[in-house]
Amino acid sequence: AARDTSLQRATQYASLTDADIAHFRTILPGAGDVIYHKDDPQHDDLEPYNVDWMRKYRGQATLVLRPRTTDQVAQILKHCHARKLAVCPQGGNTGLVGGSVPVFDEVVVFLGNMHQVRKFDPISGIVVAEAGMILQQLDGYLADRGYMMPLDLGAKGTCQIGGNVATNAGGLRLLRYGSLHGSVLGLEVVLPDGRILNDMRALRKDNTGLDLKQLFIGSEGALGIITAVAILAPVRPTAVHVATLAMPNYQAVQDAFVRARRELGEILSAFEFWDSEADKLVHQHLALRRPLETESPFQVLIETAGSNAEHDMAKLEAFLENLMADEIAIDGAVAQDQAQVDAMWAVREGIPEACAKDGAVFKYDVSVPVPKLYELVEKTRERLEGVKGVNDIIGYGHVGDGNLHLNVSAQKDADGGGARAVSAALEPFIYELVASHNGSISAEHGVGIMKPKHLHYSKDAEMLNVMQDIKALLDPNGIMNPYKYLPPRSKSA
Ligand code: FAD
Ligand code: MLT
Ligand code: ZN
Repeated sequence: AARDTSLQRATQYASLTDADIAHFRTILPGAGDVIYHKDDPQHDDLEPYNVDWMRKYRGQATLVLRPRTTDQVAQILKHCHARKLAVCPQGGNTGLVGGSVPVFDEVVVFLGNMHQVRKFDPISGIVVAEAGMILQQLDGYLADRGYMMPLDLGAKGTCQIGGNVATNAGGLRLLRYGSLHGSVLGLEVVLPDGRILNDMRALRKDNTGLDLKQLFIGSEGALGIITAVAILAPVRPTAVHVATLAMPNYQAVQDAFVRARRELGEILSAFEFWDSEADKLVHQHLALRRPLETESPFQVLIETAGSNAEHDMAKLEAFLENLMADEIAIDGAVAQDQAQVDAMWAVREGIPEACAKDGAVFKYDVSVPVPKLYELVEKTRERLEGVKGVNDIIGYGHVGDGNLHLNVSAQKDADGGGARAVSAALEPFIYELVASHNGSISAEHGVGIMKPKHLHYSKDAEMLNVMQDIKALLDPNGIMNPYKYLPPRSKSA
């Protein structure tokens, strides 16, 4: 875990005093709700909050606050605003762009103690949950009531619904259920000065002025702290089927996608792909069952979700047979029971972990038109030919969303150069490539500390200006998650 050495702690922020700590202890009297180790950011108690999931970014926080109520969050931010203390909101700390850990000595506000369901309406399926509720637990709560969460991702056992909304997480079923900009019907947000914005009517239709909650979906802690979320939950399908396919080339992956939408229609709920490098790493680093014997350049996972198991299974099997008869797929298997369903998903969901185990990982999460998706991986392979320190170049992602995850695993810096040489070859090369296709340099993981300086590849100067204006309006002291999300204002602006 390292820090970008070009960054310096901004002098506009105050440093913590004993009086601040005493004040926070009056706001949070609960046992363990204030974790403080003066001058000792390396303390074991602080480690989980200072280091991210990839162990790539490390902060220097000495204070972690763990509020239990919205009112406590409001009192915390009111004080931080008045004192100009910088704040880093933290959910499950599974973010992949270094947004969830402090950079210097920001106060970490951890939301995991706010994990209650406040309300559920069995008629509409609208659920209101506190921000710190873990995605899988919220989905489990809904499962007991015949509903489901409209998003799913590999980090479900750790990430929190507030963090999902703060990152506008996409995930494995966006294809079917759409983005959080559609399914989030209400938010409760504590603004940087401690005011509580209650946009919680949770109506499906409400055209009474600006839709303020949309601003906070994907705002990565830069505009305030999300304390509760109202979400429209879809009815849980009673029949779920999963198939894994072996594909000879990327064209076949696209052909299969077009056919899946036509032939599986309304029951298609996921269409994921990964290449043979990804497959190799998963089986090298994780002990998982192989769904298919056949080795192939690409694999595809297809999920259907409907209400008639027999009918859906027949449809999926016929789809698979046709693909093989037409030589689009080389091989394929449909999961016959829940254990096989889980085993197929485990391969796909295990890819991030397998990459992390393979070395120092450079992750690029980009959107480009579907036909161009894999070309990015091929061009990156050409670019990195002969560059020392490269372990593997891996491509996978959410085909239907035009979202590629390009990962480059490199040898750690033991020789003093490996990963750095790789990084120099990758940036700005990849960002330029994405921009040349009018793509996005962050499809779903966000900006965090990794990408503010590259944002201009996806947003023009006027758009960045307006974003800066909104940030300054809501957070005039700039206390919320500094150094991240937006580039510093350009001098000429
Ligand atoms: P954190 O990591 O704690 O925080 C993320 C950002 O949100 C930070 O900037 C933080 O300051 C801010 N934040 C957190 N909570 C709040 C809050 N309550 N109010 C305001 N700001 C807040 N992402 C996808 O989009 N799709 C995927 O398929 C996907 N799969 C993943 C698989 C794995 C194995 C892992 C490790 C990550 C994956 N991610 C994926 C990354 C994704 O962004 C996160 O997993 C998730 O959405 C972040 O939630 P979190 O609670 O961990 O937030
Ligand atoms: C995924 O789709 O697996 C996630 O976005 C995580 C990743 O890209 O590594
Ligand atoms: Zn993803």
